[in-house]
Amino acid sequence: MIPYPIYRRRITQTASFLSQYKTGKPAQLQLSAFFKTHKQMGSKDRKSLRSMVYNWFRAGSSFEGDREHQIMMANALLDCDLHEELTTDLGLPSSWHAWSLKERSEHLQSTTNWQLDRVFPVELLSEKLDKEAICLHQFTQPLVWLTGPKPASIAERLAQKQIRYEENGSAVGVDQTVPLGDVLQGFQFQVQDLSSQKVLEAFSEKLSGDELIWDACAGSGGKTLKLLNLHSGLDIMASDVRPEILKSLHHRAKGMSRNVATAQIDLTKAANELRFESSDGYRTIKQNLFDVLVLDVPCTGSGTWNRNPEFVHSFDGIPPHLIALQEAIIDHSLPFLKPGGLLLYMTCSVFSAENEAQCDRMADKHQLDVIESGYHKGYQHQSDSMYYAIFKKP
Ligand SMILES: C[S@@+](CC[C@H](N)C(=O)[O-])C[C@H]1O[C@@H](n2cnc3c(N)ncnc32)[C@H](O)[C@@H]1O
Repeated sequence: MIPYPIYRRRITQTASFLSQYKTGKPAQLQLSAFFKTHKQMGSKDRKSLRSMVYNWFRAGSSFEGDREHQIMMANALLDCDLHEELTTDLGLPSSWHAWSLKERSEHLQSTTNWQLDRVFPVELLSEKLDKEAICLHQFTQPLVWLTGPKPASIAERLAQKQIRYEENGSAVGVDQTVPLGDVLQGFQFQVQDLSSQKVLEAFSEKLSGDELIWDACAGSGGKTLKLLNLHSGLDIMASDVRPEILKSLHHRAKGMSRNVATAQIDLTKAANELRFESSDGYRTIKQNLFDVLVLDVPCTGSGTWNRNPEFVHSFDGIPPHLIALQEAIIDHSLPFLKPGGLLLYMTCSVFSAENEAQCDRMADKHQLDVIESGYHKGYQHQSDSMYYAIFKKP
């Protein structure tokens, strides 16, 4: 542990970093730029500054007082390895070190005017989620979850290298500090949060394995590739509004020796037909053709904010244009699903406006049958949270 005077200097340095921090940009990038201009900082100094910065994003801004006091309180609340001088300076009980996060948080709520629910916009949360658990979950970094065609071999490799890992079904989770590129060199794996994996695994049980699927917000193909890992016989076509991200999807699919037909499609616009390109040429798709539609729509990402706590800090309400974009994506993609076909709607949000409300609207407007819906709760599994709803088109 660094001597206390150095620890206090680090608090001042953290306050100085935060005063220059540009809201809305990833903290990780800004920390890297800061370290480049502070070359005298060694790896331990960087680690400690990074941890103080993240602790402030996780809890510090919910405390009153000046920035340095907020950083001290956040560290007192969240660090297990604490300087006794810090707890004494802050007037905290002598047994503080031995307390759990929940006990610390309860003590602060009963003895000060600090409130746990200030760490997250709980007023927007779905009623199906536990408010306290979501807030406490903001204080911990989830695991990085991996998937691939041979998950057992990934686990075996981690064990050989004496790296701690968790297994949950076929998913393997490791601490975010594990250098995956080095450790798993030569292995086929994708990083995909446990919640996405679980939603897709459960959904894939409803498939026979030879369906024609459209992944209409495919991004770099996380959902497409996971579905192909689960059912190699699926015929999946993938599109996104961003052509550059589709290159990344192609690259990843190639790593799995798969060829996925792709198209750049902007779903803010209606279309009568779609045109996908693959190595075999072009395929034109008419309306009412796909067996399955996967919509992993753009959202606030509030179910992932314990991974990136700086986004809670910059959050200023759900932008109305985001809700409108989700609606347009649903309305313009549904005509391509055939009658009797299945729609899987997903978000990594925990806000009811992006989930239950959006699904009620779509079921009503398009007369869809709701088969099931729910949350994969990240606070129960050291992962992100994800909402899903499965519909059948009549
Ligand atoms: C949550 S991300 C999808 C992540 C992806 N499914 C995966 O597993 O990696 C949402 C995607 O929607 C795309 N998107 C945003 N606006 C869109 C639009 N107007 N039309 C189609 N896709 C859009 C984004 O480019 C982004 O890749």
